Amino acid sequence: MPLFTPSPITVALPHGRAYPVHFARLGALPGLLTEAGLGPGRALVVTDANVAPLYLGAVVGPLTAAGWMPEARVVPAGEPSKSLNTLAALYDWALGLGIERRTPLLALGGGVVGDLAGFAAATLLRGLPLVHLSTTVVAQVDSAIGGKTGVNHALGKNLIGAFYQPRFVLADPTTLDTLPDREYRAGLAEVFKAALVADADFFHWLEENWDRIVAREPEAVAMFTRRAAAIKASIVAGDEREHGRRAVLNFGHTFGHAIERAAGYGRFLHGEAVATGMRAALHLSPSVAHGAALPPDRLPEPFARADRLVARLPLAPLDGLSGTAIAAAMEVDKKREGARLRFVVLDDLGRARTTEVLPPGAVEAAWVRAAGGGLHAGSP
Ligand SMILES: NC(=O)c1ccc[n+]([C@@H]2O[C@H](COP(=O)([O-])OP(=O)(O)OC[C@H]3O[C@@H](n4cnc5c(N)ncnc54)[C@H](O)[C@@H]3O)[C@@H](O)[C@H]2O)c1
Repeated sequence: MPLFTPSPITVALPHGRAYPVHFARLGALPGLLTEAGLGPGRALVVTDANVAPLYLGAVVGPLTAAGWMPEARVVPAGEPSKSLNTLAALYDWALGLGIERRTPLLALGGGVVGDLAGFAAATLLRGLPLVHLSTTVVAQVDSAIGGKTGVNHALGKNLIGAFYQPRFVLADPTTLDTLPDREYRAGLAEVFKAALVADADFFHWLEENWDRIVAREPEAVAMFTRRAAAIKASIVAGDEREHGRRAVLNFGHTFGHAIERAAGYGRFLHGEAVATGMRAALHLSPSVAHGAALPPDRLPEPFARADRLVARLPLAPLDGLSGTAIAAAMEVDKKREGARLRFVVLDDLGRARTTEVLPPGAVEAAWVRAAGGGLHAGSP
């Protein structure tokens, strides 16, 4: 795959619904709208209170100059904006403007704005053209690609939503320069995940280039965003509705979701919980392969090598959590999936599969490993 060309990545969905993911400056937006067959007129821009002062001008200025009439709506930054209340306010605003079915909705920000505004686009007038203008690592490599949109409910995250694909994604890698360090590093968890489940060469590249990545060297950022986005694009193109292969993108997430739920949402960033979850999943993988739970202090290669790299990411320390709370948190996912929990395991670096068949004690040993032995009594 060419890494430093201006050509977009394609999400190759069938029935004329394929769309490009462009890695380019925000100023390219008017030209890309034209390329997508969207003509000047009214355009809705939804963003959050952190992103607006940084990048709203870089979107609205070129749009206005190109003959568009952009209308912007700024929601509070953070996960609480993925709510039915914020969504209802967006509906009131958009419908009050007298929008038409061809009015594009541009989601400028990270995964929160993308999921919220994406669901608004899916439902307003039964579907407005959606464009993601992604400004976080999570959004550029993961959340803007694949069409999952939605909001949270008091009973859990992402419980109300729809699959709704954008017309295109524009990821400006230079916007990552202003991301707070904790957000930037936690977002790398999804990049590592992509490499671990699908691309061993990419994993080796991440290993060798860790210092450049942390320093946000432009070439390194361009490389890992494109490559992780390409992995996501190729997996979702083959399984849009997650009936099969797409589930491998949940590597580390069964554990990660349980951590988020047991700790209380908001205590850890999603990427921190996923990074810790991936450490557990890396221990679970050889246990599944051997058909017997490995002791927590044993980890064969190449899983140990992967674990050493994942351990450099910001993690969710588990020492404040009890095994009982984590076990209860996992039960919630189990109920939602109907029967048994499905785990994603690696057969090797870059080769993932799902399994429901687990050796006795393997999940418990994986938790103890990920906790560094620090879980409270009552292990899960
Ligand atoms: N739809 C999917 O497939 C999918 C996949 C993964 C995650 N998600 C969702 O994505 C959300 C997390 O996304 P996120 O990590 O991007 O969080 P986010 O959207 O909350 O952004 C993180 C923080 O960074 C700020 N920010 C964004 N861009 C910035 C920039 N360039 N400079 C400075 N600050 C900036 C935001 O205001 C926010 O405070 C969660 O709700 C998660 O459920 C969805």
